[in-house]
Amino acid sequence: MLLALAVVVTAVIVGVAAYYIFGQAPKPQANLLEIYHWWTSGGEKAAIDALVAVFQKKYPDVGVIQSPVAGGAGYVFKSVMKSMVAAGEAPDAFQVHAGYEMKPYVDAGFLEPIDDLWRQEGWESVFPPVVRDMVSWGGHYYAVPVNIHRANVLWYNKKILDQYGIDPSTLETWDGFFAACEKLRAAGIQYPIAMGGIGKWEIAHVIEQIFVSQGVDFYQDLVNGKLNDPNDPRLVNAFNIMKKYMNYVNPDYASLTWDQAVAKVIRGEAAFTIMGDWANGEFYVAGKQFGVDYGAMPSPGTKGIYVLVVDCFEKPKGAKHPENSIKWLRVVGSREGQDAFNPIKGSISARLDADVTKYGPYQRAAIQDFKTAKYMVPSIVHGSGAPEKFASAFNDIASKFAADRDVAAACKAIIDAINAAKSDYTKTWHLTG
Ligand code: BGC
Repeated sequence: MLLALAVVVTAVIVGVAAYYIFGQAPKPQANLLEIYHWWTSGGEKAAIDALVAVFQKKYPDVGVIQSPVAGGAGYVFKSVMKSMVAAGEAPDAFQVHAGYEMKPYVDAGFLEPIDDLWRQEGWESVFPPVVRDMVSWGGHYYAVPVNIHRANVLWYNKKILDQYGIDPSTLETWDGFFAACEKLRAAGIQYPIAMGGIGKWEIAHVIEQIFVSQGVDFYQDLVNGKLNDPNDPRLVNAFNIMKKYMNYVNPDYASLTWDQAVAKVIRGEAAFTIMGDWANGEFYVAGKQFGVDYGAMPSPGTKGIYVLVVDCFEKPKGAKHPENSIKWLRVVGSREGQDAFNPIKGSISARLDADVTKYGPYQRAAIQDFKTAKYMVPSIVHGSGAPEKFASAFNDIASKFAADRDVAAACKAIIDAINAAKSDYTKTWHLTG
């Protein structure tokens, strides 16, 4: 007892002395990593947990705090993160899309260049040039890509297609696709296409893929802010296709999330949904088998084109645990980290040396398609292709159009949105080769 008392008394004396010497009681510095992202659907959560598990195996002494902000494509997250960073409350790393979405952070000096890390990890030789370009600004690297998603994917319920004798190869054109929708409707499936719309971007996502189907030269003009004619036949045609598309969409789209739309296809309530290949993660967690229960193909008119969506993490200036931020980035960019995350996420590794045996059949096909793609184009809806000002106007235009289906008004609104963002177009994309 005397010994215990002596220990307590000594501890009190040391504590009091420290209080007077340092002005406050010494606080143990917690060894934490705090990351923010918007991966909250079933597939997304499983994927980020797998990546965090790789980190924890490597750095067992670091406690990881994940702070997810629900809302697909970061439609809630993005403004939350902007305010946090601007208020000097940046976490140790946060999810961001490669390309224009990073720009406001880079311009305001909120991110640290991480060229040394890129050099140490030898990333220049493993990440493809198209991705490297999207994460470098003014000759410096500011982020580490964790994946490459494909946006232009048509997902289908294979059992429904088999039952009604629809050959997926007939879905390569919009005419063929709408003929299939008509056939299914005649057979009693009133709304064969599932779509979400709660965050507006789910609708813009579909229109973006329709834009891509109007030709890469058209899409290039769009992302370079070079369209100026509201009567441009490619623009008008695109909205006419979307008008037709809306005929077959579930009427409650505006209250559904993207994954609720995918769930309709999983359950066989709808035959189709156009969504990025994060949808594969939902089929995966639902225990569905690619090629048996469901299938996927490039959305109509986009064969040979890969619409890129690239998620990244970075090192914010003033991060509270800068060393852990760097440790996280090392894992994010590593072969092991990417090969744990992406097989669940639905994306392919951003690295060219992925272990293909770890990936399921959808992604093996995607890896092949990526290697042989004729064109790679950046998604606007998912932050890369066009300035944020245009991207956010595009979401509003899309959701208004889904409701009023006014083609002329939508075409005019697109041109107006380009003009309003004119000075923000600082990148010139060369997509046509
Ligand atoms: C992200 C994906 C995510 C999807 C839906 C996209 O913008 O790049 O990682 O799964 O949004 O939330």
